[in-house]
Amino acid sequence: MRLIKRVVLASSALVLLFAAITAPDGINSFIDTADAAPERMRPNAPNYIVIAWNDLGMHCISPRFKQMAILPPFNNLEAQVIKRGSPPRIVTSGVTVRYSINNNTTVAGKTDFWDYDVPLFGVDLPLGIGLTGNGLSGTMTMVGDRYEARGIPTVPIDDQGQPYPYQGGIVEVFDDTGRLVAKTMATIPVSDELHCDYCHDAGGVGAPGINTGTVEGNILALHDLRDGTNLMQNQPVLCASCHSDNALGTPGEPGVPSMSLAMHERHAQLGTNVPSCYDCHPGAQTKCLRTNLEGMRANGSNPNCERCHGTLANVAATIRDGRQPWLDEPTCAQCHGGSFTTNQPLYKDSTGHHGVYCAACHNSPHAWYPSKLGIDNKQPIKLQGSAESIGADGKCSVCHIGQPDGDIHDEGGGDGDDDR
Ligand code: HEC
Ligand code: HEC
Ligand code: HEC
Ligand code: HEC
Ligand code: HEC
Ligand code: HEC
Ligand code: HEC
Repeated sequence: MRLIKRVVLASSALVLLFAAITAPDGINSFIDTADAAPERMRPNAPNYIVIAWNDLGMHCISPRFKQMAILPPFNNLEAQVIKRGSPPRIVTSGVTVRYSINNNTTVAGKTDFWDYDVPLFGVDLPLGIGLTGNGLSGTMTMVGDRYEARGIPTVPIDDQGQPYPYQGGIVEVFDDTGRLVAKTMATIPVSDELHCDYCHDAGGVGAPGINTGTVEGNILALHDLRDGTNLMQNQPVLCASCHSDNALGTPGEPGVPSMSLAMHERHAQLGTNVPSCYDCHPGAQTKCLRTNLEGMRANGSNPNCERCHGTLANVAATIRDGRQPWLDEPTCAQCHGGSFTTNQPLYKDSTGHHGVYCAACHNSPHAWYPSKLGIDNKQPIKLQGSAESIGADGKCSVCHIGQPDGDIHDEGGGDGDDDR
């Protein structure tokens, strides 16, 4: 029953997904114009470049908000502006950095989030404005050494109403005179492929005998039955109002397990019916683990999340042992060794190479260059003519004028065991 449903879903959604990824012509024109010549082809020009990335390789969003919400629309785009030179300089003032999304200019008709923002989050947001005040386009803010737009309210649907999990985020840099001096495109990933419906449908394994008519109703009724809560009477329900959630910054109710602990621990106890990571994380169609780096990528249809995160039971057990969900995650060093220890607890917050963010050169977690997904690779191809990590094979001239000494990871104390 569950298998049949999955196969049907997979084939129909794949067609749509394919259309969504190949169709938007703004993305193609980004790469097909004369502007697409790798920036490094201008060897002596001290021009600006901009490198952008998403903080996460995937942002999940609840498919509907009328009854319950796990995660709201909330996407974070980050960028560094670099003035090429000898040495290059990270630019933190004197420019304006704007973002927009190709073929996603409105949220109208795409989600019911703005109908339930008051009961769920206690704020009455104008349509299209997210929880931090940002919309689908706007100006990025300088925070320390990078430009950021936090809380962009993206939903995974394009302006033609088609599924759009990998959106083209356009980032443009203007100088004091208003002249466009650099432009790039980074993937804005967002998906609602949380397949609670595989099991929590009216006739499914969840809430046996309770037919509420919806997936969400099934989940809420089951929760009331098993945990003595009254969620059915209090819709819409924000799960994180009781279950603490570091992704949303909610403290939760004392004594109630965190959202991550509750979800992973309960579902790890399901004997022969333990879900796979792609049942709740996007997913069999979306394939959010899309790096093509040997050793870190998915193996066929097997997402291999366990290679870095451990099993479902382990994701939960480590929280019982003190791991902070969302804040204590796998590290590069656990496999690549101590010389890749990051200067912040999380990779996404860390810099290497003289203040350049790890993610500027390697991309978002789970989408490390090269990616299996063409849209992810457009930026490194534009900057250096190949989809590898920025600066690979001696392509220092993406940022440097002239050939600098040393290597990227041999900076103040690293043991420099990698000679590239
Ligand atoms: C592979 C099947 C499967 C998937 C996928 C799945 N669940 Fe479940 N879930 C179950 C089963 C089975 C139970 C236990 C049913 C029972 O207690 O009778 C359960 C229990 C629950 C409970 C009740 C926990 C308790 O005991 O109080 C909640 C809440 C829940 N699931 C939410 C979700 C949400 C949200 C998703 C999607 C993000 C999801 N589940 C995905 C199978 C699944
Ligand atoms: C009103 C507070 C409240 C809300 C809202 C709430 N929960 Fe719970 N939840 C609880 C309590 C209390 C428990 C029982 C905790 C325990 O047994 O230690 C629980 C248990 C669970 C469990 C089972 C944990 C386990 O290991 O048995 C899951 C899964 C779960 N909740 C998921 C959800 C989801 C999904 C939502 C949003 C639809 C949600 N909860 C909303 C209070 C809440
Ligand atoms: C039954 C649904 C379900 C399954 C199966 C599931 N997850 Fe999750 N996972 C969630 C939900 C829901 C969240 C978001 C919790 C929140 O909002 O804090 C989450 C969050 C996470 C997080 C971030 C929070 C943390 O604990 O650090 C990680 C990492 C994670 N999942 C890994 C995995 C891996 C690895 C697997 C497979 C082994 C897996 N998950 C399977 C539902 C699931
Ligand atoms: C589960 C272990 C594991 C983790 C965790 C891991 N990697 Fe890897 N990585 C590998 C393996 C295995 C390879 C392929 C063999 C090799 O080149 O070392 C690889 C290859 C790479 C390569 C290509 C190296 C080359 O010269 O071609 C890069 C870049 C890379 N990883 C970056 C990262 C970053 C960044 C992180 C942290 C965000 C990370 N890795 C975390 C296992 C891991
Ligand atoms: C090669 C190792 C590797 C694999 C494979 C992997 N992850 Fe991760 N994951 C990481 C690292 C490293 C982080 C922490 C990133 C950071 O510190 O910024 C992370 C973080 C996360 C987070 C927290 C939010 C975020 O993106 O930082 C979630 C959720 C998550 N992973 C889920 C998954 C799921 C689901 C899969 C399988 C589809 C998976 N991961 C496969 C290494 C991996
Ligand atoms: C200026 C660009 C740049 C920055 C910044 C950067 N890297 Fe790299 N990194 C590279 C390049 C280029 C390679 C070589 C990859 C290749 O050959 O495919 C590499 C390789 C790696 C590898 C694989 C090493 C191996 O030989 O297996 C890891 C792990 C890694 N980087 C982690 C990080 C981490 C963690 C950070 C941040 C602390 C970081 N990098 C910052 C450009 C960068
Ligand atoms: C993504 C941009 C970028 C790439 C690619 C890059 N660098 Fe850099 N590099 C910088 C920045 C920014 C600085 C910091 C200059 C400063 O201190 O303000 C820097 C500084 C340096 C410095 C110290 C300053 C100097 O010029 O003596 C060295 C050495 C260096 N890089 C070597 C390399 C080498 C070798 C490569 C290629 C293998 C490389 N870099 C690739 C951005 C980059």
